[in-house]
Amino acid sequence: MTGYLIDLTGKAALVTGASSGLGRHFALVLALAGAKVAVAARRVDALEELCDTIMEAGGEAVAVPMDVTDAASVSAAVEDASVGLGGIDILINNAGVTDTRSVLDLDEAAWDRVMDTNLKGAFLVARAAADAMREGGQGGAIVNIASIVGLRVAGQVSAYAVSKAGLVHLTRAMALELARHGIRVNALCPGYVETDLNRDFFATDAGQALVRRIPQRRLGRPQDLEGPLLLLCSDAGAYMTGAVLAVDGGHLVSSL
Ligand SMILES: NC(=O)c1ccc[n+]([C@@H]2O[C@H](COP(=O)([O-])OP(=O)(O)OC[C@H]3O[C@@H](n4cnc5c(N)ncnc54)[C@H](OP(=O)(O)O)[C@@H]3O)[C@@H](O)[C@H]2O)c1
Repeated sequence: MTGYLIDLTGKAALVTGASSGLGRHFALVLALAGAKVAVAARRVDALEELCDTIMEAGGEAVAVPMDVTDAASVSAAVEDASVGLGGIDILINNAGVTDTRSVLDLDEAAWDRVMDTNLKGAFLVARAAADAMREGGQGGAIVNIASIVGLRVAGQVSAYAVSKAGLVHLTRAMALELARHGIRVNALCPGYVETDLNRDFFATDAGQALVRRIPQRRLGRPQDLEGPLLLLCSDAGAYMTGAVLAVDGGHLVSSL
């Protein structure tokens, strides 16, 4: 028999996109579970405020400035996180942006911004973290934060949906190659969770209509993702790799 309480004491976790929304929440959850955390994003003041919050609660946290679209910035930040925490055991690959408009109005710059952040950026961070995990020799867990629109399409978010579909497949490709190093790679696909990214949309009539199409008839809350996140990044999920876990109130199985 093994215990079922998830304890990340002694583990070091890097969370990207931790300056707001889900990433900030994920960093707090991992710290509460006992992990030391490195929090990364471009808005350093928000990261420092988060580190203060974690340390006031008795945790350990460091802020690492990172622009995921810039390979040099990613390398430097992952190195800083690894030195600051004494290695990296867990990566929450969460930084992401969206762009809401018809595919007919989607210009090249918008396409590039979404792809460079959500897909290329996620690849750069995962590659650097996996390299640090391999060098550490202890294996590790990578959780890519994708989306249900990486599994089914929705209107007005074509670049975003394609980037997340790419991230789901990158998850599988990395899982295949990194298992030999003891590194697990899984994707968490949230449904619609209210954050800064989408708050304005859910205030509209179209947003309210969308909520009515979710079988559970409500938006997700950040806390709905806590159990699935902890499963994927702890030994509770030791035999899971290449998995794609949707947490969406049943949205993917909504009636056609
Ligand atoms: N909210 C939802 O309903 C939902 C559903 C499914 C999936 N997701 C995914 O969950 C993740 C977090 O989304 P959220 O809702 O929490 O949005 P959010 O509040 O806008 O947070 C996005 C985070 O990504 C960071 N980021 C953006 N561009 C970056 C860059 N170039 N380099 C480094 N960091 C960057 C931002 O930090 P800085 O601006 O400080 O750099 C911010 O911390 C995203 O990947 C999103 O696609 C969200």
